[in-house]
Amino acid sequence: MTTDINIVISEWAYLAAAVLFVLGLRSLSSPGTARRGMFLAEIGMALAVVGTLLYTQILTWTYILVGAFVGSAIGAAMAIYMPMTAMPQRIALSHSFGAQAAVLVGCFKYIEYGGEGLGRLRMAALGFEVLFGALTVTGSLMAFGKLQELIRGAPITYKGQNILNIALFLTTIVLFFYLLYAPDTTWVFYTMLGLGLVVGVLLVMPIGGADMPVVISLLNSYAGLAAAATGIAIDNKVLIIAGSLDGTSGFFLSILMSRAMNRSFANVLFGAVGSAPPAAAAGQAEARTVIRYTPEDAKLMLENASSVIIIPGYGMAVAQAQHIAYEMTNLLLSRGATVRYAIHPVAGRMPGHMNVLLAEAGVPYEQLFEMDHINDDFQNTDVVVVIGANDVTNPAARHKKSSPLYGMPILNADQARHIIILKRSMGAGFAGEDNDLFYDPKTMMVLGDAKQTLTHIVQHLKK
Ligand code: TAP
Repeated sequence: MTTDINIVISEWAYLAAAVLFVLGLRSLSSPGTARRGMFLAEIGMALAVVGTLLYTQILTWTYILVGAFVGSAIGAAMAIYMPMTAMPQRIALSHSFGAQAAVLVGCFKYIEYGGEGLGRLRMAALGFEVLFGALTVTGSLMAFGKLQELIRGAPITYKGQNILNIALFLTTIVLFFYLLYAPDTTWVFYTMLGLGLVVGVLLVMPIGGADMPVVISLLNSYAGLAAAATGIAIDNKVLIIAGSLDGTSGFFLSILMSRAMNRSFANVLFGAVGSAPPAAAAGQAEARTVIRYTPEDAKLMLENASSVIIIPGYGMAVAQAQHIAYEMTNLLLSRGATVRYAIHPVAGRMPGHMNVLLAEAGVPYEQLFEMDHINDDFQNTDVVVVIGANDVTNPAARHKKSSPLYGMPILNADQARHIIILKRSMGAGFAGEDNDLFYDPKTMMVLGDAKQTLTHIVQHLKK
């Protein structure tokens, strides 16, 4: 009787969880509702966990409680101590953990059945789960290592690399199909698992650290699909739903990111962009000269402006300058200027990076404008303040065919009447391309850490 009630409750919990996941994802599509979306998804996940615990197949609670404690402790430590700038590698690590869980469940189920008695559908689900799970485990660890600079972030390439990778991947696919017809050939199962782990490493090796966010999003998709396959293998509906949502949203996100960078998927995976800055660009940066301005010069420019657009970029995240930027915004607003933030879709190092930082600083959503909604307004703007952004303002994207940025839509900062750029040096951004905007006669380069420079500007504005 208790068993029946438990099953009914857990089925309802799963249904509610699935609805909450969908609503959560839907709410994440706008900054205004994103927090609510996260909250809904969290409740959904809690319900899914409770629903699973109510199933009566649990033999002992000891491992579950120990696992929950250790997992929660690791998760809490990661959330508390890893800085926002390390978010991409934190996500990579989480994907690896998720995929490890899928692989372990897959292996356990395979051992439980001993290969025999597995129908073709279940073997297909198990094989898919283990294969994609395995390459996500090591691929994500590689991505983590590159972003955390534990291993060389630059693309590691060698002759015949793509051919070897494709050959190995095809081999794992052949093994996968073999298992559908002979599921009890254990050595094929474990060879497929081993090759999957190797392929994960080899696939990520040639990709530059800077392209990692797209790769991480793709691996997120793989982890989701592996989880969905786990759901089919162990007959768990909420895993199928959550895994499918994860798989498809990760895939779409990867496409959107590639598109916003004007790169094809294939180019991200095989193009080896984002390594060391090209020597030519670095040399060019040294050859040209610019006048260096002070925070006080910037303040003089700003106090006379009636319209200001702020362009935040990766450097704002590094400097953690979002709070002081917002303080400057409020001072300018109190002087009667209009101030808006222009958000490029790939500013920073992960989707929504700037939105998250600015929301954390309390900047109202009404002040944030997506690129397409503000790009025509730069020509009527008095001053643009570029805070640690570089590539997303680089005019080379419009005309320089040899540039890795060529074709990427950029913010029209160069069309404003005056441009103030806050960064530490004349160095290039992520793509390694020198930025002509620095040498524009309308531009004031104020070199230094963005937070310190903005603090000085704010102090001068307050005087
Ligand atoms: P970047 O082009 O990377 O430029 C950031 C600039 O910030 C650097 O030039 C750096 O110059 C400056 N900076 C670093 N630390 C600073 C500090 N403490 N204070 C002041 N400035 C500092 O950034 P972006 O304009 O945001 O463009 C993002 C790039 O990342 C794009 O090329 C995009 O394609 C790529 N990308 C983005 C994503 C996502 S999803 N956002 C994913 C993959 C790739 P200094 O060293 O001279 O200070």
